[in-house]
Amino acid sequence: MQFVTIDSWPTTKPVDYRPELEDGNVLFFPSTPFAFPEKSKEFLRNINFAGGSIHKNVAYRPASDRVTGVELEASKSERLRAILREYSQAVVQFTAQVLPQYAPYWKLDYASFRPLEEENRHLPVNKRNDLIHTDAFPSRPTNGDLIMRVFTNIHPTKTRNWIITDPFCIVAERYARDAGLGKIAEGANSGSGRILHSSARLLKSMGLPVVPRSAYDRFMLHFHEYLKRNGDFQKNTPKYSFNFPPGATWITFTDIVPHSVLSGQHALEQTFIIARHSMANPANAPIAILEQLCGEPMV
Ligand SMILES: [Fe+2]
Repeated sequence: MQFVTIDSWPTTKPVDYRPELEDGNVLFFPSTPFAFPEKSKEFLRNINFAGGSIHKNVAYRPASDRVTGVELEASKSERLRAILREYSQAVVQFTAQVLPQYAPYWKLDYASFRPLEEENRHLPVNKRNDLIHTDAFPSRPTNGDLIMRVFTNIHPTKTRNWIITDPFCIVAERYARDAGLGKIAEGANSGSGRILHSSARLLKSMGLPVVPRSAYDRFMLHFHEYLKRNGDFQKNTPKYSFNFPPGATWITFTDIVPHSVLSGQHALEQTFIIARHSMANPANAPIAILEQLCGEPMV
């Protein structure tokens, strides 16, 4: 596990960064490698989120150009939307230059703004950011594709402090069976499991609010919480800490790289769903590792 520092962007020679990311490393740009005006950062930092007007984070949905998770007066919410749109577009353009092999096949997911201090947040266990975990989205199953996220620390002075641990292949080898991998894979591949999944897909196609989840998505969702609740893992897994300075941007697969955020305030983030077939080494995809461990197909 390592942090791969890219001091100046663009680089003089094109580099294929996929193997670094897929091995569970973090691409680290010490200063913001794309244009994002100071005025926009200032506006974001100065929004007053006191009084419970915010959900966990503020989310921006590029596909529908919508902001969710926050209630603000109309003029402020319009400006917020414009700034998050601007950030999202700048990150997409930049990331397509860094990782051109992924870009033609990725699915653009949500962007988010994380305005609250992470230290001492009072959140339920499954939402806590300070416990080491792999990411999985309850409402957006990936069917074996991967979650890649680009973060930017926009705090003027404070670092954003992360802990990461060994990549998914090592953590899964140690804990996936105990987390119930065999049972979840078998259940999904059984006759009744297949009928249930087909029915969920049918209901979704009819417009009902149902989320059909593959065995992979069910496991990953469960594993996210399993790791957070596993005292042995939290205590004994090797910990590599990194304090991302103000202005830094970093890219990583947050399903391959178990991570936690101990402190920091005011971060922006854009998520990409990376197609498994566009990986340099598809054997590093969590789904490939899980299928190898349980001997069953998981989508
Ligand atoms: Fe996370």
